[in-house]
Amino acid sequence: MSKNRSYRSLFNGIDVPMQLGDGTYIIPINFDNAATTPPLKKVDSFVYENILMYGSVGRGGHKSSYCTRAYEVSRQEVLNFFNITNEEEYTVIYVKNTTEGINHLASVLCNNRMDKVLATRMEHHANDLPWRMAASMFYVDIDHEGKFSLQDIEEKLYDAQGTIKYVTVTGASNVTGYVSPIHKIAELAHKYGAMIIVDAAQLIAHRAINIKGTGKNDSIDFLVFSGHKMYAPFGSGVIIGLKEVLNNKIPYLVGGGAVSAVLDDDVYWKETPQKNEAGTPNFLGAMSIVASMVVLKEVGFDAISDHEEKLKCRLLEGLSELPKVVLYGSAQCQDRLGVVPFNVEGIDHIRMSHLLKEIRGIAVRNGCFCAQPYVTRLLGISDKERYHYMLHPNLTPPGMIRASLGLYNTEEEVDDFLNTVEYIVKHRVAKS
Ligand SMILES: Cc1ncc(COP(=O)(O)O)c(C=O)c1O
Repeated sequence: MSKNRSYRSLFNGIDVPMQLGDGTYIIPINFDNAATTPPLKKVDSFVYENILMYGSVGRGGHKSSYCTRAYEVSRQEVLNFFNITNEEEYTVIYVKNTTEGINHLASVLCNNRMDKVLATRMEHHANDLPWRMAASMFYVDIDHEGKFSLQDIEEKLYDAQGTIKYVTVTGASNVTGYVSPIHKIAELAHKYGAMIIVDAAQLIAHRAINIKGTGKNDSIDFLVFSGHKMYAPFGSGVIIGLKEVLNNKIPYLVGGGAVSAVLDDDVYWKETPQKNEAGTPNFLGAMSIVASMVVLKEVGFDAISDHEEKLKCRLLEGLSELPKVVLYGSAQCQDRLGVVPFNVEGIDHIRMSHLLKEIRGIAVRNGCFCAQPYVTRLLGISDKERYHYMLHPNLTPPGMIRASLGLYNTEEEVDDFLNTVEYIVKHRVAKS
């Protein structure tokens, strides 16, 4: 059994056959891991064990005590995953997903719309829109390869003369897979008196993250991620953040569990994290995240990125050799996850994605991947042209195809994928 196959055996649900356009059945290829991921077997079994013990977190009684303890201990396990041993400085807040986590942070951290936030044009909407609603935005733009530069970040921070309060950046792009130099950005942010927020939705399952950095004032202040992007699709995500900052702010959601006393005319908040988790928590979601972390650490991030690198290079190289395929982003980029956006000349992204599914049971994503400012820049489409598309809904909207890899994908799947793209190019495009 090859090493790749052994990763497959760690997962549930990936070998369930699906029906093709011609009515036959096949084991599908899931190249849509940047959107969401299937569960690890150990995640499922740990969740099931905990279902048997399920009770209310924060209450007394046999099962409730078990759940309360497991839930609180899990926070330290999450911190350990990021090499944080000093529990005093950081806290773990469970949320629904990255989107909720960033909305939460934008609402809690920004005092009013005059607060200045610096983001990049590479962001997913989840790390752009919440800040637009809460603050004054500044953006670092991207170059022709879709990259932003540290120099541009520093210039923006320098020009603002210490008035930018937060720098928020994706840890890795969900469009091009570029991995951001988060610690270098953190160092710059801190140099100019700002704090950094990292959207780790894509990074979490692919790279080891050391929140404390290297000791050069480059630690990450806040980081957010979703369980469903790390093989734990049970409805939970996490904010890791500086305890003191969160303790000094009014929470985003208010209600039961967040308060120590409610008087007729007064409210006393608990300390964070409870202060930031009003309502009944998703206990099973939290358990799924820590179970996934155990497996990812067991496999090891060196092995995870080696495997992904091998597949990504094969995929990029194979696509670059096919006629009519247009790739976006730099194939030379060393620090890039297995997220590969492309188009096929003469066949639009909606049809292409449909054909991949119908002919070989391949799942990819098409469209703008909730990163419209970034994708339209890569496509060279201006906002003026965007209005044109919006006014003419009969036109195919701008978009791309995105193939994104997970730990269980194999070289054979990459080859099958490339053969299918080649087949479509030859038979569908050539004829049209
Ligand atoms: C970079 C990035 N940030 C944020 C999100 C939002 O994640 P969620 O849908 O889990 O809230 C995604 C989802 O695709 C993403 O790729």
